[in-house]
Formats: sequence, structure tokens, C-alpha cells
Amino acid sequence: MSDTTTSVAETVAQALAGVSVDDVRRRYWEQNEFVYLERWLPAPLVDRMVAEVNRVRPSINRNYIPRHKKGGSVSFYTLVEQAPTIVALYRAPAFIEFLAGLTGQRLQACPPGDPHSCALYYYTEPGDHIGFHFDTSYYRGARYTVLVGLVERSSSRLVCQLYKNDPSRAPVEVKLATHPGTFIFFNGDKLWHSITPLGEGEERVSLTLEYVTSQAMNPFLRVFSDLKDAFAYFGFAELVKGRLKRR
Ligand SMILES: [Fe+2]
Repeated sequence: MSDTTTSVAETVAQALAGVSVDDVRRRYWEQNEFVYLERWLPAPLVDRMVAEVNRVRPSINRNYIPRHKKGGSVSFYTLVEQAPTIVALYRAPAFIEFLAGLTGQRLQACPPGDPHSCALYYYTEPGDHIGFHFDTSYYRGARYTVLVGLVERSSSRLVCQLYKNDPSRAPVEVKLATHPGTFIFFNGDKLWHSITPLGEGEERVSLTLEYVTSQAMNPFLRVFSDLKDAFAYFGFAELVKGRLKRR
């Protein structure tokens, strides 16, 4: 086991010791499979991840889809090569076990050919944002998102509409700043969410980690998912890398 893996595992254990898992699980279910812990991950871990955020900046791919999203991203393929702390958190068994315990499902990392599985999102230019969406699962089972705040020098907010898919409940809106170390976790098919536009001279960087109940995907949805990733997120070079990794 590498030093990075060991120290991330220790930090995760330390973070978990500071929360009541039962309480987090209760809030997760009360909020229709959505929960957040403000500034939860320990500062030394966050500092190391922020150093990796800066290291991979030359690999940022910027996208603009009129009226839906504008911003930059760095895919899993780059993080695997250059961001060992971030990847160690993504794969940390105690972390995955904690998330699985919240959902009541057996969770696993996405298969290696998925550029979204663990990725950084950079909001660096005025107006960078993403409109309301679900993190829809194209896998056969459910897909869950962890969002970790890493850089927060912005007036942007993560806006979450809870109970969007539950006709028996009135919707509830939650607006969050994603401060460094803030942890947000949700079922991608249930949380309707957006990031409001970045202001002048501001910056916001977040990490997302995706977990699935099944690594299988219908082949038609695979093509759709790949094209969406190439256009909207990581570019066509990353699409080719993903296809090669799946061989
Ligand atoms: Fe999302």
C-alpha cells in the first residue's frame, strides 16, 4: 500500500470518527437521498487535494453549451496520473463503506473507462455555471455523487431542489457555498441541482466522485454518455482514451 493510500485511509477514519453515521443517514433519507457536512474533510487532506487541483490546471478542458453550462474540467484519466491523493480518496474502502451505509446499497467505483468517475470542475471565468440537472445514471443501477468543495472564492452557490421527483412533497430549496472540505452526497436521479454563475475575479473548484450499484451499462446509453462527456465536459481526446481503457 502506498504512503498516500495509507495517509488518506487514516484521514478518512479520523473524519468518520467525528460524525454520527446514524445521524447522517437519517438526514440523508429525510432529505430524499441528499446530505451535506460543511467543512468536514480534515484540512491537511484538503490542502493536498488543492495542491493537485493546481498541478493539473494545464489539463483543464473548457466547454460552453449556450444556456446550460460553461466551465472547465479535468477527467479521471489525468487525475489517475497526476493526483494520487484525490484518487486515493475516491478508492478508500472506509469511505466507500460509509457511503454504502448511508444508501443501504452495495457501492463500487465506476468502471475505468468513465472520465466522470472522479473529476475536477473549474469555475474560473465570469459567468461559469451549470444549469439545473439531475446526475442521471446511464448505468443499469443507481449512481451516487459525492461533491467535495476545494476552492471557494466565489459568490456562486450550489442550488439544490429537494423532493423534485416526489409529487407528495412540496419542493425545498437549499443553497450552499462549497467551502474547502465540505462534503455533499446524493442520489443522482433524485437531486435537481445547479451552480449559479461565477462573478468577476472569482474562482470555485469542486471535486466529484461517482459510485454505482452496477458497472454495467446498456450499449446504446454508453454511446450517448460518451458523446455527452466529449461535448459537454472533457473533449474528444478523452473519449478515445476511455474507449481504449475499456478494451
Ligand atoms: Fe451535477
